[in-house]
This record gives sequence, C-alpha cells and structure tokens, in this order.
Amino acid sequence: MSRNYPDAKEAYTVPRIRKMKGKGSLAAITCYDASFARIIEETSIQLVLVGDSAANVIYGLDSTLPIGIDEMAMHTRAVAAGLSKALLVADMPFLSYQPSAEVAITNAGKLLQAGAKAVKVEGGGSHIRAIIGKLVEVGIPVMGHLGLTPQSVHRFGGYKLQGRSEQDAEHIFEEAKLLEEAGCFSIVLEKVPAELAKGITETLSVPTIGIGAGPHCDGQILVLYDLLGLDSEFRPRFVRRYAELAEEIKEALNRYTEDVKEGRFPSEEESF
Ligand code: KIV
Repeated sequence: MSRNYPDAKEAYTVPRIRKMKGKGSLAAITCYDASFARIIEETSIQLVLVGDSAANVIYGLDSTLPIGIDEMAMHTRAVAAGLSKALLVADMPFLSYQPSAEVAITNAGKLLQAGAKAVKVEGGGSHIRAIIGKLVEVGIPVMGHLGLTPQSVHRFGGYKLQGRSEQDAEHIFEEAKLLEEAGCFSIVLEKVPAELAKGITETLSVPTIGIGAGPHCDGQILVLYDLLGLDSEFRPRFVRRYAELAEEIKEALNRYTEDVKEGRFPSEEESF
C-alpha cells in the first residue's frame, strides 16, 4: 500500500467517478501532453482521456488505426506528469487488446505504468467483453466505448451516426448492459441518437459519458483541440467551441514575425 495514493477527497478516483452516476455533471476532456495537462490541472475537469484521437489531432492521420501502444504510453506519461486531480484514463489503441486477454493485460499494464489509472477499450461483443472481464479481474479498471467506435471505421464505412435503426439501437442497448456486467466502471457513448443514450443512461448503474450523444448522459467528453478551436476547418455538429485558439495563435505568430522584421523584438530588457 502506498502512502502517496492521491487523497480521495482531492483526486477523482475510479470509485469517485462511479459515484457521479445520475448527477449529469461529469466533465471530461482528452489530452495528449504535459503542457495542456498542467493547464487542465488548474480547472475543475474531472476526467482526462489520453485518446487514440492523438492519431488525428497530433499526428494528422485520418484514422486512429495507425497509433500504437508505445506512442500511447508516451502520451500517457506526458499527461500524467502534469495531472494529479482528474482521473487519467488511457485509450488502448487498435490491436493492443483485440488479439487476446494476455496481450490486453500486457498492454494495459504499459499504460498504467505510464501513469493511467484506467484504460478504455472499444466495442461490446462477446470477445471484447471476455477481455474486459480479464482486465478487471487483474485489477485494471476499464471504461467501455459504444456507438461510433473509430477503430471500426472501415466496418461502418465512415464516421457515421450509429444506432439509427431500431435494430441497431437495440443492439447497442444490449451491449451497454453487457459491458456493465463485464465490469466496466463507465461507458463512452459516441455519436448515437440522444434518445438511445437517454435509455442506456437510465438503465445502467455506471456513468455514461457522451460525445455527440445528446444531453442525457451522466457526463460529456470532447476532444480538447476541437473544444479550443485549434483546427479552424473542423466543425462537427456535436462540438461546441469554447475558444478560437487557431485564430489567436495565427495572430500571435504574425505579430511576432512583424516585431522581428521591424526590429522590435528582442528589446533591450529582453536581452542580456
Ligand atoms: O480517442 C478519443 O478521443 C476518444 C473520445 C472521442 C471519447 O475516444
């Protein structure tokens, strides 16, 4: 037992996040580096996900499939260096858990050793549920992820709304119940109709965290760079921008360039 485990009054632990069920107040965000993690640490965000969306927003790729466990572990280590209050969850990337429970345990272990307190896996079929069961059995908390699961983008044929037909909605609903049974401490619902997310949220006893899943989930998550407006072009309907940082950054860099050109930077006070 460690004396250094974060005080549960201060830190958002897995049990504390579970207790946020039904309150509708869980605010989660993705993060990929220590600089942003240090900023998040100074806010009231309760859960931080090192998302495999790093593949998109950090590496500029058009899917999450190419990012591997070593990159995810490095990003997790960086975020952990700046964070102590929010619960740190790390995404298990494509093929880091699907092959077998042994592979999943080894790779989840790498993320926990890098500082994550829990891992997230996508999907709710019987194969994935068995793997989740094994992870939970060895003491690794698991967050589920249903609806639009980006690692299955090629099966879906794009980043489309899921659970549109009654049959698909029922399938997602059933899988959500089974993921809870398998031991997930919370479940992300991505890009599903609000009514489906509402039904799942009302049925489960673990918190649901929505992204493009309407207002009825127990919590919400957004990709940090989307919320901050770091990509002027990317404006999906479910993202609310709370800042326009791309514009601010461009303006700052243009002012800096002008100052250098005009000899205004550095000044005498900024020189040795
Ligand atoms: O990778 C990610 O950023 C995610 C969130 C969108 C939930 O899985």
